[in-house]
Amino acid sequence: MLFSTLALSTIWAVGTAALSSNSSGYHQPTSKGFRMQHGFETVLVQPFGYDGFRVRAWPYRPPTGGEIGFVYDPPLEGPEGDQAHGMSFDTAFKGNQSVEMRNGNILVRTSGWGGNPGGYRLAFYRVESNGTETLLTNEYAPLKSINPRYYSWTGPGSEFAAEFSFTTTPDEQIYGTGTQQDHMVNKKGATIDLINFNTHIPTPLFMSNKGYGFVWNMPSTGRMEFSPLRNRFTSDSATVVDYFIVSAIPGDYDTLQQRLSALTGRAPLPPDWSLGYIQSKLRYENQTEIELLAEGFEKRDIPVSMIVIDYQSWAAQGDWGLDPRLWPRVAEMSAKVKNLTGAEMMASLWPSVADNSLNYEEMMAQGYLSATRSGPGTTDSWNGSYIRNYDSTNPGARQFLWDTLKRNYFDKGIKNFWIDQADGGALGEAYENNGQSTYIQSIPFAVPDVLYAAGTQRSVGKLYPWAHQQAIEEGFRNATSSEMGTACDHISLSRSGYIGSQRFCSMIWSGDTTAVWETLSAQVGTCLSAAASGWGWYTVDAGGFQADPTVWWSANIDTTEYRQLYVRWLQWSTFLPFMRTHGSRACYTQDAYTCANEPWSYGEENTPTIVSYIKLRYQLAPYLRSIFSEFHRTGRMIMRPLFMDFQSSDTHIAEMTRSNTNETTQQYMFGPRLLVTPVTLPNVTEWPVYLPQTASNETKPWTYWWTNQTYAGGQTVTVPAPVEHIPVFHLGSREDIMSGQVFS
Ligand SMILES: *[C@@H]1O[C@H](CO)[C@@H](O)[C@H](O)[C@H]1NC(C)=O
Ligand SMILES: *[C@@H]1O[C@H](CO)[C@@H](O)[C@H](O)[C@H]1NC(C)=O
Ligand SMILES: *[C@@H]1O[C@H](CO)[C@@H](O)[C@H](O)[C@H]1NC(C)=O
Ligand SMILES: *[C@@H]1O[C@H](CO)[C@@H](O)[C@H](O)[C@H]1NC(C)=O
Ligand SMILES: *[C@@H]1O[C@H](CO)[C@@H](O)[C@H](O)[C@H]1NC(C)=O
Ligand SMILES: *[C@@H]1O[C@H](CO)[C@@H](O)[C@H](O)[C@H]1NC(C)=O
Ligand SMILES: *[C@@H]1O[C@H](CO)[C@@H](O)[C@H](O)[C@H]1NC(C)=O
Ligand SMILES: *[C@@H]1O[C@H](CO)[C@@H](O)[C@H](O)[C@H]1NC(C)=O
Ligand SMILES: *[C@@H]1O[C@H](CO)[C@@H](O)[C@H](O)[C@H]1NC(C)=O
Ligand SMILES: *[C@@H]1O[C@H](CO)[C@@H](O)[C@H](O)[C@H]1NC(C)=O
Ligand SMILES: *[C@@H]1O[C@H](CO)[C@@H](O)[C@H](O)[C@H]1NC(C)=O
Repeated sequence: MLFSTLALSTIWAVGTAALSSNSSGYHQPTSKGFRMQHGFETVLVQPFGYDGFRVRAWPYRPPTGGEIGFVYDPPLEGPEGDQAHGMSFDTAFKGNQSVEMRNGNILVRTSGWGGNPGGYRLAFYRVESNGTETLLTNEYAPLKSINPRYYSWTGPGSEFAAEFSFTTTPDEQIYGTGTQQDHMVNKKGATIDLINFNTHIPTPLFMSNKGYGFVWNMPSTGRMEFSPLRNRFTSDSATVVDYFIVSAIPGDYDTLQQRLSALTGRAPLPPDWSLGYIQSKLRYENQTEIELLAEGFEKRDIPVSMIVIDYQSWAAQGDWGLDPRLWPRVAEMSAKVKNLTGAEMMASLWPSVADNSLNYEEMMAQGYLSATRSGPGTTDSWNGSYIRNYDSTNPGARQFLWDTLKRNYFDKGIKNFWIDQADGGALGEAYENNGQSTYIQSIPFAVPDVLYAAGTQRSVGKLYPWAHQQAIEEGFRNATSSEMGTACDHISLSRSGYIGSQRFCSMIWSGDTTAVWETLSAQVGTCLSAAASGWGWYTVDAGGFQADPTVWWSANIDTTEYRQLYVRWLQWSTFLPFMRTHGSRACYTQDAYTCANEPWSYGEENTPTIVSYIKLRYQLAPYLRSIFSEFHRTGRMIMRPLFMDFQSSDTHIAEMTRSNTNETTQQYMFGPRLLVTPVTLPNVTEWPVYLPQTASNETKPWTYWWTNQTYAGGQTVTVPAPVEHIPVFHLGSREDIMSGQVFS
């Protein structure tokens, strides 16, 4: 019957190149790519980087190749030449053939449904060292379901919406996807909207425990869904669909990160000073206050690496300069800070430009401001005035922004920039900033469909924060005549980002968190998802950003309750890529306009503890340099969820990670040697820590930092954790850690 004859049909290996290996055994791509014509639809599959494929698909009109993406073409490493970039291919066929192509250890094969040999559907396999094949995923098409590549036209133009579905199994684990605040390191089961807002940076890139990585290289808003049998990616508005898949041996996450970062970007080296302690609060309001602050650090002999000026330091939004009434002599101030403490300075900028800004008229005339598809064109409002966000997707607007920042700050010694409210669309809140937020908690309709030079919020909205980081990066590079990718002299701090944001001299932080224990505990998993998404330069507001109005002591520096939370949060921040305090504080008595958030603001009994962690941070500098430099070189992650190091040596890790237990969402390796477990509950004096089974043959590889007692892996131990001690264990000798000799 039909079935038996079909089963005999042959699979064609496409391309002319025979399977060949390079001198170290790498299987070179068997083809430059294939183009499948499936009715009106076209699918182009190319080898890309080591062990990877790029897939582009379009329903009727070929892309130009100049569409917005976030991946290097050609990749930083891997098969070179015209095999890896452009729209090239050497084989074309219709969607009724079974063909296959290999690149390194990954194989793609086309097939049909129901035993049909016709091949409109892609399946990806890893070729194991013994030659067997393991299915990674294939386009999801159960019999007579909607097509796994599904297009629809929902808007007025020719742009389309796309839904692409891939098979998964109930036991697959998904790591990455940017940041949510959900205690989930394994995102299996999650549905995530691709819409940015404060504290949420959804990003369609993940690593699978089956040994592959996936990048949905789309700037559009949309959705990711990780259900039991189907992973689905949706883009609301697109002109081409573009995604990547790379494979590695299951459990080898360093290789996976290396492969992914060869596509999405490697971080430069951060400036050495930025590895120290960063002081910030909402907010130092004038020059005198900043100078007194620097004197406070100098007088107490507490090291500080950067001092930060928060928002509303300008006369009008979009001035991108300090209000001269409050900051009369900026260059003098930054020189004084430098002289007293050695610290750099950073200032906040918002993307919003108000009607009364010095820059509004010119930016409007030049088309540098975003507008909206309907309504009056304003994108949001703040404290009673309407604003329009500058258009970060417009190169001219980026240059205008930078020129203004350079004149007003950079040339006066404030050389680092905090790109706040950078989420795009509106000002990045779940409600509009129209001054009514005390009773309008959230607006039940979409953020405005903003118009940018590069497209609409729906079609390119995820580009906005990335392009905003790019603006500052281009400015730094222009000002210092340095090339992107080389060591940074200055840094930016961004509330949002996207695929490959790690390529900029820019750290991302977890946004406006609340100052309560539950939020502290959620930060840990959030950092670990950031790491799995490729962002190494991640940080949080130590102490939490703002009071939770339902908790009487929250953010109040004069309460013992909050002081304890602050000490726990701050001590944890010692073991983050960047150590930074920030937030809005409450108090019973105050000297400044706003309540204090300095190392000495939390009671005499706590100051020595806080200062000891700041000093420890400086002592760890050689270790920090080592782990940042490895991240720069190969993409080896800095904060490491336990699955990254112990999935192969410890049989319990996979199961713990599957169900997101505290052992896997509250603990991590900081670099190769330190196991960090922040205390996330009040009033404790001891704390349970799961010590993973290591691959080493030492019987007691783990040493408790505070006692030097050693422990075997594969067990939970309860260790003393008075408020002055964060549970930290180390592998190997402390001397090696302190000298940074941790990579052989
Ligand atoms: C061969 O491929 C491997 C990737 O697995 C790469 O590391 C190596 O540099 C390549 N060698 C040559 C000579 O191209
Ligand atoms: C695929 O379709 C084309 C045209 O319809 C036909 O010529 C070709 O034989 C078909 N190939 C297979 C393998 O069925
Ligand atoms: C081949 O290797 C894979 C991966 O290591 C393993 O799962 C499989 O059992 C092996 N098959 C044979 C026939 O050795
Ligand atoms: C600070 O200024 C004083 C007085 O001008 C000078 O003696 C000192 O060397 C400066 N210190 C630093 C660290 O620049
Ligand atoms: C809001 O605007 C009013 C009047 O212009 C001003 O007095 C006040 O300081 C502003 N508040 C904030 C938080 O910007
Ligand atoms: C950086 O310099 C280049 C070349 O002069 C220019 O095109 C670009 O607009 C500049 N970017 C910024 C942000 O200043
Ligand atoms: C600057 O801030 C300090 C401390 O908050 C305050 O005492 C002082 O009056 C302010 N000066 C100006 C000019 O606003
Ligand atoms: C996990 O940790 C949180 C505190 O961060 C705690 O409330 C919860 O009870 C812990 N869960 C388990 C199962 O220990
Ligand atoms: C922590 O201890 C303090 C002082 O003993 C007590 O007032 C407070 O209620 C305790 N908090 C919790 C959450 O147990
Ligand atoms: C541990 O294993 C390594 C490598 O397998 C071996 O060289 C070393 O002698 C072993 N050490 C002990 C104490 O068994
Ligand atoms: C633990 O060992 C280190 C040296 O590795 C030493 O500096 C430290 O004082 C020791 N701590 C205790 C509590 O013995």
